[in-house]
Amino acid sequence: MTDTLTLPRPDDWHLHLRDGAMLAAVVPESARHFARALIMPNLVPPVVTGAQAAAYRARILTALPDGADFTPLMTLYLTEATDPADVVAAHRDGVIAAVKLYPAGATTNSASGVRNFDAVRGVLEAMAEAGVPLCLHGEVTDPAVDIFDREAVFLERVLEPVRRATPGLRVVLEHVTTEDGLDYVRAGGPDLAGTITAHHLMINRNHILAGGIRPHYYCLPVAKRERHRLALVEAATAGEACFFLGTDSAPHPDHDKEAACGCAGCFTAPVAMACLAQVFEAAGALPRLEGFVARHGAAFYGLPVNADSITLLKSASPLDIPASVGSGGGRVTVFDPGFPLFWRVAD
Ligand code: NCD
Ligand code: ZN
Repeated sequence: MTDTLTLPRPDDWHLHLRDGAMLAAVVPESARHFARALIMPNLVPPVVTGAQAAAYRARILTALPDGADFTPLMTLYLTEATDPADVVAAHRDGVIAAVKLYPAGATTNSASGVRNFDAVRGVLEAMAEAGVPLCLHGEVTDPAVDIFDREAVFLERVLEPVRRATPGLRVVLEHVTTEDGLDYVRAGGPDLAGTITAHHLMINRNHILAGGIRPHYYCLPVAKRERHRLALVEAATAGEACFFLGTDSAPHPDHDKEAACGCAGCFTAPVAMACLAQVFEAAGALPRLEGFVARHGAAFYGLPVNADSITLLKSASPLDIPASVGSGGGRVTVFDPGFPLFWRVAD
């Protein structure tokens, strides 16, 4: 039985770190295991200019524990007022690695997102020209579309027209949750990739809704049926280079999650690697974990694989997972898959 696994330090291609006291509380949890992370710009107000991204990056670096080896890769929040020249300059100067598109109203802090896709055509064309990747929250916001169908409908209503209108645009369909999304990415060629979270590999919609509502499993896109979860596990563990890890670790204080209108997001950073090792082991695919967490994403973004390594160890006794971390603004519950985890990252 394999009980130790060494791999290059992993990257997280979709991470929410927030700001202020929450940032200080959660950034050590990612920096402990991950070498780099693509930082989401949905602060309040959002990070919309290169100057704001540079300032946010500086705040993240200040919040890091001493000696941490962690590189935040910044993103800009695309709005209908985004200046193409600012995007291109920020990418050229190494301030940002990508631009993030939230359909307006799709998720937490997305009110400034895009309503009219024609309004951002000029920015997307400039990004295609300059090689700036576009990361997409792939859900339509049309209230007439069932929440469980919003990803599949997004593919035909938004993603396909955007890609057709902007040849050469490099696109990441983030946090894929459906077979439809996986198949779309597979067919999309080298300019298209998909990220998959750790929690969508572990939970389906029953985990959220059956036997009582579990707010800490509620995230967007919402987890789908079991057959979609199984398809995600297959995509992640089969070694397909178009899929890589983006945890979408999204901390919220418990009082905002455990509410009459609880907000979306699972805080997975502390346990993401333990969860993934367990999923890959169960699929008989531990040797392919390295590609999913450390190689495929770096290749898509044209970055070197991290030179340092981490070691995962499997213990006989379950991992002692902290139930929550303090954030200054209330406790933040750590994602609990509902069964014991046996893998941990060696110190
Ligand atoms: C994210 C958040 O809390 O910022 N929530 C989530 O459920 N994933 C927003 C997002 O990425 O959709
Ligand atoms: Zn997210």
